[in-house]
Amino acid sequence: MNAGIIGLGRYIPEKVLTNHDLEKMVETSDEWIRTRTGIEERRIASDDVNTSHMALAAAKKALADADVAAEDIDMILVATVTPDQAFPTVACMIQEQLGAHKACAMDISAACAGFMYGLVTGKQFIESGTFKHVLVVGVEKLSRITDWDDRNTAVLFGDGAGAAVLGSVSEGKGILSFELGADGRGGKHLYLDEKDHTIMNGREVFKFAVRQMGESSVNVIEKAGLSKEDVDFLIPHQANIRIMEAARERLELPVEKMSKTVHKYGNTSAASIPISLCEEIEAGKIHDGDVIVMVGFGGGLTWGAIAMRWGR
Ligand code: ACO
Repeated sequence: MNAGIIGLGRYIPEKVLTNHDLEKMVETSDEWIRTRTGIEERRIASDDVNTSHMALAAAKKALADADVAAEDIDMILVATVTPDQAFPTVACMIQEQLGAHKACAMDISAACAGFMYGLVTGKQFIESGTFKHVLVVGVEKLSRITDWDDRNTAVLFGDGAGAAVLGSVSEGKGILSFELGADGRGGKHLYLDEKDHTIMNGREVFKFAVRQMGESSVNVIEKAGLSKEDVDFLIPHQANIRIMEAARERLELPVEKMSKTVHKYGNTSAASIPISLCEEIEAGKIHDGDVIVMVGFGGGLTWGAIAMRWGR
C-alpha cells in the first residue's frame, strides 16, 4: 500500500498587508524587505477569523477535491503553532464542524515543519492498513503572535491554511521517502516569549535553514533511489527567497521548477507548503508521474522533507 495525496485545498485571507503599509508601522522599507526576504505583501486574517475557521475552509476544499466524504475520514492531523486555544484542539474543532465523526483528531506542533510531520504520520497509518483516509491541515494565524512593533519579525509573517487528503494510491506513486528531524539545542534561536510574541535570531535561523533545506532534499532523493535529475518540482517552505534559492541550487533545478508564493503570502509557517503545492497543481505545473520534493524547517528547531511521485 502506498500513501499519497488525493485531494488539496487552501484558504487565503482577503486582507492584504503590503510592504508599503509596513513602512508606516515600523522603521523599514519596501526595498529592504524585498531584497532580504523576497516578500512583497502578506495576507492577514480578520479579527473574527480564527485558525479553526481557516483550517475548516481549506479542509472542505480538500475533501471535495479528493471526492471523499467527511464520514470516511479516519484521522485528522492539524499542524499549527497558533491554535485557537490549547484545547480543544483545532483538529477536534474541525472534526465536529466537518461531521467527520469517525475520525480521531489531534494537533501537531512542529512549527514550519509541521505539515511534513503530519504527512509522514498519516502515511504510517495508511500504509499499515490501519486507516483509509487521513486529513492533514497546515494552518497559521501568525498575525496573532507577531509583535507589530518589532521590525525583525513583523515583516516576515502571514496567515493562511492548506489541506491535503491522504489515501492509498497506485504502485510507484505517492510518498517515496521522507526525513524528519529536530535539534532542541537550537530552540533558543526562535521561540514565543511570555507576551506571546515571536522572538528570532534571524542570522542563526538563516544559516540552519540553508544547510538543512539542502541536506534534507538531497537525502530524500537518495532514499527514494533517485538522483537530482529525476526531480521535476521543488516545494520549499516559503520563509525567505534566499533560503529557497539555496535549496533550489543544491538540487540544480531551474527557477521555473521551484514553487514561489513567498512574495504574495510571506511566511505562513505550517501552511506554506500545502498552499504552494495546491497553487502549483491548480496552475497545471505539476503533472501525473512527476517527482516532487517538499522540504520545510522551523522553530524547535525542526525539519522535514518528502519525495513524492504525483498522481493517484
Ligand atoms: N527593515 C529594515 N532593517 C531591518 C529590518 C527591517 N524589517 N529587520 C532587520 N533590519 C536590520 C537589522 O537590525 C540589521 O541592522 P544592523 O546591521 O544595524 O544590526 C540589518 O537590518 C541586517 O540584519 P541581518 O540580520 O544581517 O539581515 P539578514 O540579511 O540576515 O536578513 C532576515 C534578516 C530576513 C530575518 C534573515 O536573517 C532571515 O530570513 N532569517 C531566517 C528567518 C526565517 O526563515 N524564519 C523562519 C522561521 S518562522 C517559524 O518557525 C514560525
